[in-house]
Amino acid sequence: MKLFLLLAFNALILFKILDARFFYEASKVDGNADRKALLVFKSQVSANNRLALVSWNDSTPLCQWEGVTCARKHKRVTGLDLGGLQLGGIISPAIGNLSFLRSLNLEDNSFGGTIPKEVGMLFRLQQLNMSYNNLKGVIPTSLSNCSRLVTLDLTSNNIVNGLPSELGGSLSSLENLFLSKNNLSGRFPTSLGNLTSLKNLFIAFNNMEGEVPKTIGRLTQLIRLQLSINNLSGVFPPAIYNLSSLRYLFIAGNHFSGSLSPGFGYMLATLRELEMPMNSFSGDLPKTISNISTLRALDVSENHFAGSVSVDNRLSGNIPETIGDCLYMEEVYLGGNSFDGVIPDIRNLRGLKQFNLSNNNFSGNIPEFLANFSSLVNLDLSGNSFQGAVPTKGVFQHPEEFSVSGNRNLCGGIPELYRVGGSILLLNVRKVFIQVYK
Ligand SMILES: *[C@@H]1O[C@H](CO)[C@@H](O)[C@H](O)[C@H]1NC(C)=O
Ligand SMILES: *[C@@H]1O[C@H](CO)[C@@H](O)[C@H](O)[C@H]1NC(C)=O
Ligand SMILES: *[C@@H]1O[C@H](CO)[C@@H](O)[C@H](O)[C@H]1NC(C)=O
Ligand SMILES: *[C@@H]1O[C@H](CO)[C@@H](O)[C@H](O)[C@H]1NC(C)=O
Ligand SMILES: *[C@@H]1O[C@H](CO)[C@@H](O)[C@H](O)[C@H]1NC(C)=O
Ligand SMILES: *[C@@H]1O[C@H](CO)[C@@H](O)[C@H](O)[C@H]1NC(C)=O
Ligand SMILES: *[C@@H]1O[C@H](CO)[C@@H](O)[C@H](O)[C@H]1NC(C)=O
Ligand SMILES: *[C@@H]1O[C@H](CO)[C@@H](O)[C@H](O)[C@H]1NC(C)=O
Ligand SMILES: *[C@@H]1O[C@H](CO)[C@@H](O)[C@H](O)[C@H]1NC(C)=O
Ligand SMILES: *[C@@H]1O[C@H](CO)[C@@H](O)[C@H](O)[C@H]1NC(C)=O
Ligand SMILES: *[C@@H]1O[C@H](CO)[C@@H](O)[C@H](O)[C@H]1NC(C)=O
Ligand SMILES: *[C@@H]1O[C@H](CO)[C@@H](O)[C@H](O)[C@H]1NC(C)=O
Repeated sequence: MKLFLLLAFNALILFKILDARFFYEASKVDGNADRKALLVFKSQVSANNRLALVSWNDSTPLCQWEGVTCARKHKRVTGLDLGGLQLGGIISPAIGNLSFLRSLNLEDNSFGGTIPKEVGMLFRLQQLNMSYNNLKGVIPTSLSNCSRLVTLDLTSNNIVNGLPSELGGSLSSLENLFLSKNNLSGRFPTSLGNLTSLKNLFIAFNNMEGEVPKTIGRLTQLIRLQLSINNLSGVFPPAIYNLSSLRYLFIAGNHFSGSLSPGFGYMLATLRELEMPMNSFSGDLPKTISNISTLRALDVSENHFAGSVSVDNRLSGNIPETIGDCLYMEEVYLGGNSFDGVIPDIRNLRGLKQFNLSNNNFSGNIPEFLANFSSLVNLDLSGNSFQGAVPTKGVFQHPEEFSVSGNRNLCGGIPELYRVGGSILLLNVRKVFIQVYK
């Protein structure tokens, strides 16, 4: 027993010594490597922008250089944060020699050129933010070596081609992938489904095409999925129904078509925002959307939805106020479809701020309960077949906050509706009423 303790003690001392030697070597030998790499990096920053890096000189200790963070013990560079310093030029491949780097932030500068493949040598990297630069070329496949990467943000550059399928092979820690506002094209690789830690996937404003692969259904941690303004097609990707943690789903401005599953609201029951305007979806709006008690914003405008909008009873009638978190629903956009029938009884959605039913074929009276919605500031009922009297209370007292133009059988409303007004909305309204009274 004693012998064992003694051995253990010796081993501990040995480890301490090894540890110390490791840090000694790390700092003395490779500390110079960091310094050298950073000076080469600096030399590639265009001369007129280099002022921000004036502290990167021999009389200032490395760990006090602007934007440089070192490990407390071994003094190797672990962080480089040069965001928003108006740096231009190119990102030197020497960056790949900062072998202890965990966080690299070059966002909001004017770096051009390509992302050096040497970034792939930084296997300790967890955060990489090069968003808002002028980077060209492709996402280097070598990034698949950065297996500890948690966040990759390349938003707003000019990066082309697709998403390298290699990334799906190894980035098992990746939680945040932000690639919006580039010029990425092609299809999503099926290996996307291997990024099973993903919480946020943003690829809006690119040129991705084809269908969303089934494998996306494996990304069950996903909270935000932003694929708006691309060239994606096919039906609403069934695999998305598997993403039961999803809170924000944005697929606006693509070429999706077909109808939504009747069980939509049961499968995506935690959605907060559902934005899918400017596609070619058709069929009914699933009733079960009104079962999503967390939903705050719903935008299905500019599609081919049809039929009457029915809501489940829960949203209407005399229900206890404690039910229905849908009281929190703030924005509903149904414009530019072929909906008909009357405005559904949504008198419990008292938190509604934006309600847009424009350019459908809704009919019947404008319900009085809309005048009770005290937060409503933007109500667009234009281009429908409403009839009867326009209410005069609540939002209907403020002509700049609502539009009823293009409904041929309306009457009543506040006197301002008939005056020659300044704003476009007023003009719209006036035109309608001129039409009505002709
Ligand atoms: C990067 O490291 C390699 C290998 O250690 C070395 O040959 C090269 O000179 C270094 N480059 C820079 C810019 O530090
Ligand atoms: C070196 O950096 C310090 C700031 O750390 C700065 O005051 C000094 O002017 C710099 N020296 C040169 C030669 O640029
Ligand atoms: C990257 O930098 C941009 C610009 O400063 C910032 O808005 C964004 O939040 C950063 N990304 C991450 C993931 O922190
Ligand atoms: C990626 O890792 C592999 C194996 O570890 C290595 O051979 C390759 O050179 C690395 N690529 C880069 C760009 O570092
Ligand atoms: C996007 O890339 C395509 C080629 O894939 C090219 O024709 C187009 O000009 C690029 N668009 C922009 C805005 O860079
Ligand atoms: C990644 O995904 C592809 C295609 O879905 C699959 O064939 C491959 O085995 C996966 N690789 C890993 C490492 O999980
Ligand atoms: C959109 O994708 C289709 C294939 O799905 C392709 O034929 C078409 O050229 C793409 N459009 C653009 C603008 O890239
Ligand atoms: C749905 O998610 C489960 C894990 O929660 C997974 O086993 C299954 O393969 C996924 N289905 C699809 C269609 O992606
Ligand atoms: C959906 O709402 C309807 C009507 O309020 C209700 O009968 C049904 O039980 C709800 N479904 C679930 C799964 O909550
Ligand atoms: C209502 O939605 C349509 C698109 O469907 C849009 O053109 C219109 O400007 C919106 N109305 C208001 C008042 O925002
Ligand atoms: C709009 O609905 C009315 C009935 O309310 C119907 O008579 C009319 O044909 C419909 N118009 C269109 C274009 O569907
Ligand atoms: C509007 O609210 C008042 C006061 O809460 C209530 O008495 C009235 O019935 C409501 N009107 C409608 C149409 O919901």
